[in-house]
Amino acid sequence: MSNQNSVWLAHEAALTQKRLIPHLKRALGTLADTEQQIFLDRLTAHFPSLFSALFELYASRYDFFYHLETILTTAAEMYAARPDDLKALDGLRETHPNWYLSEVMMGAVCYVDRFAGDLVGIRGRLPYFRELGITYLHLMPLFLSPEKQHDGGYAVSSFREVNPALGSMDDLAELSRELRANGISLVLDFVFNHTSDEHEWAKRALAGDPEYQDFYLMFDDRRLPDQYEARLREIFPDQAPGSFTYRSEIKKWVWTTFHRYQWDLNYANPAVFHAMLSEMLFLANQGVEVLRLDAVPFIWKQLGTDCENLPQAHTIIRAFNTLVRIAAPALLFKSEAIVHPQKVRSYIDEAKCQLSYNPIMMVSLWDALATRDVRFMTHTMQKRFTIPHGTSWVNYIRSHDDIGWGFADEDAVEIGINPNDHRYFLNMFYTGRFPGSFAAGLPFNYNPRTQDMRISGTTASLAGLEQALERDEAILKEHAIRRVLMLYAIVLSAGGIPLLYLGDELATLNDYSYRENPDLADDSRWVHRPHLDDERLSKRRDPRTIEGRVFQTLSNLIFIRKRTPAFRTGETTFFDTGSPHVLGYTRHQQIMVLANFSDFAQTIHLPALIKSQLYAPVLHLIDLITGSDYTPDQPITLEPYTIVWLERRG
Ligand code: GLC
Ligand code: GLC
Repeated sequence: MSNQNSVWLAHEAALTQKRLIPHLKRALGTLADTEQQIFLDRLTAHFPSLFSALFELYASRYDFFYHLETILTTAAEMYAARPDDLKALDGLRETHPNWYLSEVMMGAVCYVDRFAGDLVGIRGRLPYFRELGITYLHLMPLFLSPEKQHDGGYAVSSFREVNPALGSMDDLAELSRELRANGISLVLDFVFNHTSDEHEWAKRALAGDPEYQDFYLMFDDRRLPDQYEARLREIFPDQAPGSFTYRSEIKKWVWTTFHRYQWDLNYANPAVFHAMLSEMLFLANQGVEVLRLDAVPFIWKQLGTDCENLPQAHTIIRAFNTLVRIAAPALLFKSEAIVHPQKVRSYIDEAKCQLSYNPIMMVSLWDALATRDVRFMTHTMQKRFTIPHGTSWVNYIRSHDDIGWGFADEDAVEIGINPNDHRYFLNMFYTGRFPGSFAAGLPFNYNPRTQDMRISGTTASLAGLEQALERDEAILKEHAIRRVLMLYAIVLSAGGIPLLYLGDELATLNDYSYRENPDLADDSRWVHRPHLDDERLSKRRDPRTIEGRVFQTLSNLIFIRKRTPAFRTGETTFFDTGSPHVLGYTRHQQIMVLANFSDFAQTIHLPALIKSQLYAPVLHLIDLITGSDYTPDQPITLEPYTIVWLERRG
């Protein structure tokens, strides 16, 4: 924008704000003056950036100012309706804005039904969450969803009704309060790229209402869909090829990036922005503290592009975020962008999300495990791990989704790896077809045209436990268990919020029973979404069992993390350890982590590393995990798949 334009825009913003205040005061009318003033002060602080974002998106509309007014009125109304305890939380978060960077943060994720039956069942699991030190709990989508075609809840039919099988809105609000009282922040999905075709808006659109047809992207013939499709990526080429679905009821093609029953919303229509803002602030007022923004790359479409990660997608999220800062500032955004590393990053830099999944590290970990070589990971992490202060990765090993090999081709090329061959290798390895592979994964959405596929499987099965148990060989079992623990020990120490996929702490294996359920059978992701197994759970206190060993070691690692300030989000420096099999990084120049990705013991020469990585003199180093003491002039030998957290002393 030219200087002149931005001066004009700032002036226009100031005038608009002035004009809006009387309307907003009406919406805030029920509140005490001091509370009204809090809203108006926040408005003043954020209005210029909000105005410029909305201007960028919608200024070409003749009714721009009308929409602006409805958007802000909704923000004011939702603020007025926000419960007092959440307003108090807003204040607390504003005075401690970096709370989520702390070393005490520990995330967990689960399906409500599969982990605990229903929302009341989740409350019953509070003691378990305390055992694990959880402070952040992501419950997978729990709103009303079609009975058969639900995509695990990612096809939402109402953002204001809990799926009756799981409970009610009251149960949810009650749960969020109880979690908060136990120091746990509730994290829910905001599935805002699409709704199910059973959502009220979709039903009205199907009944022919043009106002609601404009909530989605609909076409009378294949002309535009064909032009778009020339550039679009198919997300589910197996189950839902193409990106448009014909609906004979209205004789129109509907944009459906994911499944045919998931209709993409039309954010070029400000009424959609407004409607989704209401849903978002409604969720915030239920006590949700982090919204996982689902499928962010796809929310804006433009002919002639691949319709992913467009600048307007960032602007929409930034505008939502600004409104949240005004009406419900305790809420944070976590972006779910499983795309090219640079694009992942753009949701932090451009869209201003405070949190982002870290698929870059997730993929690197599995890569290093398969190759026993950490050089690609080190190279990638050196380039891409550092993000601005005040933002944080959510580091994970597994999610409910497939693993796609989303590393940057250029990173691979820079260290002499052919990206396509390497993806082929990783797919063969993790589906167990590569000779000597330890993994038991399944292909997901094999695309015969591009030869592409992604991988499903639980952490333990991908790390070799399933095969080791079948072959009943002690050394294979030992290595598999250590791989699981080493991966988690990295996620716990690398910097960011560690996210545990619940079940992993009990070394849960693949569950093939989804194949017998016709509603799930065509989606191999269900293999790694098993129900919590009570038998496994009951073994967690017995260290002679695999479950017990994994559970106890992992919970011990979590507690060490939580009492170690150098594990807070912030400075992480990856370095070359001198061995291609040993990953190394330092945290705040205080802790040096070394992890051996090989089947053989590796000896690392410490003095040089200490000199180059920890700078100031070190008298000795304590491994926080085992308590072992190392003097800096000794070499250190790491057994296969073990890790040390060396803290400097002296
Ligand atoms: C997200 C979810 C995935 C779902 C898709 C469509 O990426 O993680 O499970 O299929 O969005 O909502
Ligand atoms: C693709 C999408 C991602 C989605 C996943 C679902 O990887 O980029 O957003 O979660 O598919 O399996």
